[in-house]
Amino acid sequence: MELIRIPRIMQDTCRKHLQKGRTIGLVPTMGALHEGHLSLIRRSRSENDVTAVSIFVNPAQFGPSEDLSRYPRDIEGDTKKIGELEADVLFLPDDRAMYPAGFCTFLDVEKISEKLCGAFRPGHFRGVATVVSKLFNITLPTRAYFGQKDFQQTVVIRRLAKDLNFGTEVVVCPTIREHDGLAMSSRNAYLTAEQRKAATALFRCLTAASQEMLSGTRTAETVREMMQDILAAEPLIAPVEYAGVYDPQTLDPAAEIKGEVLLAVAVRLGNARLIDNMLVNT
Ligand code: PAJ
Repeated sequence: MELIRIPRIMQDTCRKHLQKGRTIGLVPTMGALHEGHLSLIRRSRSENDVTAVSIFVNPAQFGPSEDLSRYPRDIEGDTKKIGELEADVLFLPDDRAMYPAGFCTFLDVEKISEKLCGAFRPGHFRGVATVVSKLFNITLPTRAYFGQKDFQQTVVIRRLAKDLNFGTEVVVCPTIREHDGLAMSSRNAYLTAEQRKAATALFRCLTAASQEMLSGTRTAETVREMMQDILAAEPLIAPVEYAGVYDPQTLDPAAEIKGEVLLAVAVRLGNARLIDNMLVNT
């Protein structure tokens, strides 16, 4: 596996692969890799000639009071995991390489960036859209792999890939979960044992809501209340930022339950902010 830290060298390397007629799969990450990340790397390996993994804890997507400084980092462990999966290139730029002095170009994917998580994390999706565009320009990927776990992020990235004619296929992969349903996340490391137990309420609330809809409930408000009640039963969860039924395209609250709907939830639990979601075909 090749380790590259300089954007220009990464771009030259990727260009050479493309000139030889090879397809490139990109898996962008912020490191502290778990099975969720690894599933994206495996998928890319199975669909492309070359798989590039990037690790960059992107300061532009963290708010001033967020967890940038304590975000988990484990470059040594990550490098080993990526090597074992036989990815071809690891792109590991530092802050200065990605945001050199004088950097002042940012990308706003309007409307959808302000919904759901965007309302609680102002500027977050601007940072995500900016760094992902840079990564796309640097690695020129044929396909790029993202987890459904961060559903709104996939909507934002699909939109920007289309709007800016990147020509990259955005592939969304299923959420990988712990044995009790908790979606894997680097941020689960912030949870105490007691909080970890309470965190199962997210998956329980999604599952219960999904069953409720599949057994015929068509009122979004009823489903939303049910989700809120399940979360409210866990005193360690506070506050619930949002929980409900949404249109998977616009991310607006669903007026009626019809066709494919998105169940989505975001809560605070101790020092962690946890999100999860489920797509349901009603
Ligand atoms: P990060 O949180 O490291 O996640 C990297 C990728 O792994 C994202 O596409 C995310 O959705 C996916 N992922 C995380 N947990 C997952 C799980 N349990 N199952 C499946 N996939 C999962 O998301 C980011 O980094 C950043 O915003 C990034 C896109 C790299 C831009 O900085």
